[in-house]
Amino acid sequence: MTRRPAVTPREVALDVLRAVSTDDAYANLLLPTRLRRARLHGQEAAFTTELTYGTLRRRGYYDLVIAAAAGRDLAAIDPVALDVLRLGAHQLLGMATAAHAAVSETVGLTKWMGAARATGFVNAVLRTISQADESTWTTRLLDGVTDPVERLALEFAHPGWVVRAVRDALHREGRAHELQQVLAANNAAPRVMLVALPGLADPEALGEVSLFAPTAVPSAAGDPAGHPLVAQGRARVQDEGSQLAALALSRCRPIVEGERWLDLCAGPGGKAALLAAEAKLGGATLVANEIVPARSRLVRSALHAVDRAVEVRTSDGREFGEREPAAFDRILIDAPCTGLGALRRRPEARWRKTEGDVGPLVQLQTELLRSALAALAPGGVLAYVTCSPHVAETTGVVDAVLTERQGEVVPLDAREVLRRVARTEIDLAELDNGAAQLWPHRHGTDAMFVQLLTRR
Ligand SMILES: C[S@@+](CC[C@H](N)C(=O)[O-])C[C@H]1O[C@@H](n2cnc3c(N)ncnc32)[C@H](O)[C@@H]1O
Repeated sequence: MTRRPAVTPREVALDVLRAVSTDDAYANLLLPTRLRRARLHGQEAAFTTELTYGTLRRRGYYDLVIAAAAGRDLAAIDPVALDVLRLGAHQLLGMATAAHAAVSETVGLTKWMGAARATGFVNAVLRTISQADESTWTTRLLDGVTDPVERLALEFAHPGWVVRAVRDALHREGRAHELQQVLAANNAAPRVMLVALPGLADPEALGEVSLFAPTAVPSAAGDPAGHPLVAQGRARVQDEGSQLAALALSRCRPIVEGERWLDLCAGPGGKAALLAAEAKLGGATLVANEIVPARSRLVRSALHAVDRAVEVRTSDGREFGEREPAAFDRILIDAPCTGLGALRRRPEARWRKTEGDVGPLVQLQTELLRSALAALAPGGVLAYVTCSPHVAETTGVVDAVLTERQGEVVPLDAREVLRRVARTEIDLAELDNGAAQLWPHRHGTDAMFVQLLTRR
């Protein structure tokens, strides 16, 4: 059956949930297009965003509620009905939507989606869910759960392995007591942050400069793409932690004219744009590399307004070391990772990644780091960056490579560099090898990890 295009907030939200469930779509990429197509603006757009992101973030929690209310396993529930129920559960338990509206409007979606047979079932389950509030449901679900990690996983709607990974990363800094704060921060919508690209936009022209990155300005309400500087590519949307990570490399020491820089994993080009602007001001040249052709095209378009002279390559970063030994003075590896540090902005990510992804990523990260070290000129600086605080992906990768290359590769103090770069005092816990770890609850940034290394 063909259905009408999605026009109401609930239809748009369900449409995105279905795309996430069936096509592995990324909600943060898909939703803006769907909002435009449905002509939803202002409060309606904000409501749709909360419906969509809130449902996706807490999906694992709502699934437990739904299974309990339906009295059956999720596997026995029609997949369309399940997404409708998740949307309904979020309105009933996570938003202040009036119960009768949440139930009737949501039940109506079942038919719109072509699953009319499930209408009675959806109606019955939503009514059962609406009979208790969120804290009552949580208390019921927690009954008999004794493992503290599993309790937090349930309360904060995170998979257990993610809670353990965050706990271990905090433990490494002696701040295990901040675990609940991180989990809560992962569930809150982040402020949209802009970067004013140096030499192209004056940060003050965008608004009040943020606390840490001198290039970062919180976006005013509304669509940031509407700002002329953003439309011209002189300013961009970019997390403040990502800005700090790029600046840790570009500002670790003064730029010597003619330096060669490499961004090894550049797609879609956020950090490459900032590095290109910094390189241009300092008289350095930048090569931006990315393995996936479509992402490489995104890098090219990100760099268009900044510096068209930047060389964009599409190749496997693991081959750089052999192809171009000792060729670059500064290298950024913004490594492919689990993304556990950016859960605020990728609502479905926590349910999509699995613990099994960590091992192969660590392998890839290690190979990229080895290759980049071979491509680094003696005396040059390398920044190894992840948007994950996972110990294996961060300190683990760095430790392994430092052991292999003992004496030849030496850590530099990223904390000292970031303290110098930051506009105000920044609370960075002490970590091995002078690494710096940013956190959403402490800095309002993604949980970026930054390690600086040099080669003798
Ligand atoms: C964390 S993202 C980089 C984000 C980017 N620096 C930015 O700020 O917009 C990692 C990127 O590495 C790319 N990648 C994965 N494996 C790679 C490899 N072997 N060589 C080069 N790039 C790779 C991924 O396609 C992805 O675009």
